[in-house]
Formats: sequence, C-alpha cells, structure tokens
Amino acid sequence: MKIAFIGDIVGRPGRSMINEHLKRIKVEEGIDFVIANYENASHGFGLTAKNAKELFVAGIDVMTGGNHTWDKKDILPLFEQFELLRPHNYPEGVPGTGCKIYEVAGEKLAILNLMGHYSMPFTDNVFRIAKETVSQLKSDGIDHIFIDFHAEATSEKRAVLMMLQGQVSGVMGTHTHVGTDDLQISNGTAYLTDIGLTGCRDNVIGMDAKVPIERFLTGMPGRFEVPKVCKRILQMAVMELEGGKCINAYKIKQFDDGRRFISEAWVDDN
Ligand SMILES: [Fe+2]
Repeated sequence: MKIAFIGDIVGRPGRSMINEHLKRIKVEEGIDFVIANYENASHGFGLTAKNAKELFVAGIDVMTGGNHTWDKKDILPLFEQFELLRPHNYPEGVPGTGCKIYEVAGEKLAILNLMGHYSMPFTDNVFRIAKETVSQLKSDGIDHIFIDFHAEATSEKRAVLMMLQGQVSGVMGTHTHVGTDDLQISNGTAYLTDIGLTGCRDNVIGMDAKVPIERFLTGMPGRFEVPKVCKRILQMAVMELEGGKCINAYKIKQFDDGRRFISEAWVDDN
C-alpha cells in the first residue's frame, strides 16, 4: 500500500493548498490513504465541524491531533462523526481515541497519534503507551502501523524511533511546523523528525510574523493571526509499505506557484 502523511495544516492558507492540490497528487503518486494533522486547521487553533468536512471532502482519510485538539468547543461531537484522533496518551476517560485501524488496499493499517512531554500538556508517559500499544497491535495481527508523534523535542522523537524501529512502518513528527531534513528508512521504519506545516511558507510557523516579532522584542503578549495573504506550501511524505515495513519513502514540497521539490529517504538496515 502507498500512504501519505501531511503535518499541521495551518488555517485557511493550509486548507486551500489541500483543496487545490491533494486530489491531483493522490492520483499522480498512486496514493491509497492520506493521514493529516488537524490541530491548527481552523484559524490556526483547533478544528471546526465545517473545516473538518471540507478537509475530508478534499481527500484526507484520517486526521490526527495534538495540544490544540481541544481549542474549538465543537470538537467533541466530531469524534463521532469523522475519522479524527487525539493523542492516545491522554489519560483514560478523555473523549475520543488515539488509535484506529483501517482497511487499506486489502490490508490492515493502524494509525496511532501520540504527544510528547517537553512543553506539552500533562499526559500519561508517551514512551510506555507507545510500547504497550504497538505490542498490543502486533499481537492482534496488525502489521502496518503509522505514528504521528506530536512533540516539541527532537530528542523525544528520535527516542521513539530508536525504541520502535523495525516494529512500525513509520514515525513522523508534527507540532514544530518546521520541516527537518532527515527523512530516512531505519530498519523498515520511515522516520522524519518533523514533516513541517502546510500553510504559509513565509511568516513565522504559519502565523503573521508581526505578532511573534513584537512579542520577542517586548516580552508583551500578542494574539497570533493566520495571514490573509501569503506564499503557501503543502508538505507531504509518501511511503510505500509492504509486510509491515516501509520499502520506499520520499517527501514532496508543493508550492502554490507550481514549483515542486522531491527528496528521497536514505535507507539504513541493521
Ligand atoms: Fe501542536
């Protein structure tokens, strides 16, 4: 099967890139299933019902969350209506789930959404939850497992790769909005520290640069806004999976001006 992963879709500029390019890229690349992160999709914070519908219609199959999952009050009923996840390591009793299994190209694919600890809300130990969930999925006969690890710290993301390489098909980071240059396949596990945002490629992490610059200059608070006009980017990792392993991976950076950059994963085996 061939799956694709898109990171944090930030506001209207991000949603418009999905609307304008996703269906065509899916056909061109032969992609069977698309995972994307919704936590900044509506005005940069959380997800509304209207935008959820829009993104699924545009070709996304399942969406993952993070620390901004709860920002819009109408998220709770959406867990019943759409294929939405929230970080799996939220404590027991929290609405929604962080792990779902899908039938893709005649095989089972588990999507697991996790959230790190450094500078993040209080949750259960993500490393223990990751280990336990993956071993449960394996014992249930699920070979293909993809993880969106929503975390600030690069060390936490690398640690999850080192802990789970060879056991899962992919681990990719979200949250920082800045794509890293380390796409690799390590013992059959596709890995990228952060896929980077889909939205404004100028400005600061998809938000109007004026506010963060003023905050950094003065130390005073300011409200982040998504720019109305900006240069846009769609960032997507494409992974070919076979027998639970990733056998080929590459990243596409699609610009709104038509330019497209492709980078291949390096491969390391034990
Ligand atoms: Fe986040």
